[in-house]
Amino acid sequence: MTKKWSASRAPAGRIAYVNGRYLPHGEAAVHIEDRALQLGDGIYEVTNVINFQPIDEEAHLERMERSLREIGMAMPMGRAALKLVMREVIARNRIPNGLLYLQVTRGAVRRDHVPPKDGPRPTLILTMRAQDMAGLASRMQKGIAVSTQPDIRWGRCDIKTVQLLPNLLAKQAAKAAGAFEAWLIDADGYVTEGASTNAWIVDADGTVITRDLSNAILPGVTRRIMLEAMAEGQMKVVERKFTLSEALAAREAFISSATGAAVPVVAIDGKTIGQGVPGPLTRRIYGLYAARAGINSD
Ligand code: PDD
Repeated sequence: MTKKWSASRAPAGRIAYVNGRYLPHGEAAVHIEDRALQLGDGIYEVTNVINFQPIDEEAHLERMERSLREIGMAMPMGRAALKLVMREVIARNRIPNGLLYLQVTRGAVRRDHVPPKDGPRPTLILTMRAQDMAGLASRMQKGIAVSTQPDIRWGRCDIKTVQLLPNLLAKQAAKAAGAFEAWLIDADGYVTEGASTNAWIVDADGTVITRDLSNAILPGVTRRIMLEAMAEGQMKVVERKFTLSEALAAREAFISSATGAAVPVVAIDGKTIGQGVPGPLTRRIYGLYAARAGINSD
């Protein structure tokens, strides 16, 4: 007997949503002609779920709409309906704290690079899984190491596409180097972002620096809410690109994403950052963000 795909060995009761149907996770599937599989023709979102509530929900849906618009697609359903599906997936999975994944692809149709004019029905997939709370707590407490990797991605990194090959190769190389995340370095020696996170440093004066928005990085939702929270907390923040040498000389560094807001970076390419332990400003920023996002940060 062929062994079943490992995701089907997920905790019993895990439920996925695919095109209008709620199915056991191991049985949910899309067609082999789906354009995401054949051409990488799709986008995605990830939201943190705490206490059964999606965090920063509106901002994620806004970005989802934007990613779709940039590839010439509309939302597969209205925002209110989608929110109901999100809640239904969370409820059916009975996972209070986890990660909710949404993928929209251009749908299943005979393979051709050019999408058909009256495209097929888009594919909408929602899945959920528990968050590794112990792992995250340990990263928050001890900090993480990052490894720098060349940024070999395309010219539209602002679109949250499912085409993640360069990201995963960078992350794989980082893991092989003993690091948790890769920081991607552009051709001019500037840090763009992490393979799946935004990158931040704090300089000697206590100014927080993160790269300005452009086609070179993903407009992180956590980044956005964090910037709002820092402005409210009257912290000194600058959105500009920074070099690897600036990062190495930083007082503190951290990463942000829906899967972990303000996770301290204590080493880059084996070199200690600041005191080599999570810094006070990173902690403060996490607290400000958590308060704004409605997360209990105790
Ligand atoms: N990654 N930059 C990249 C390249 C990302 O893939 C992500 C998110 C971020 C942070 O964005 P946000 O704060 O909206 O999560 C920045 C998700 C979590 C992932 O791929 O799993």
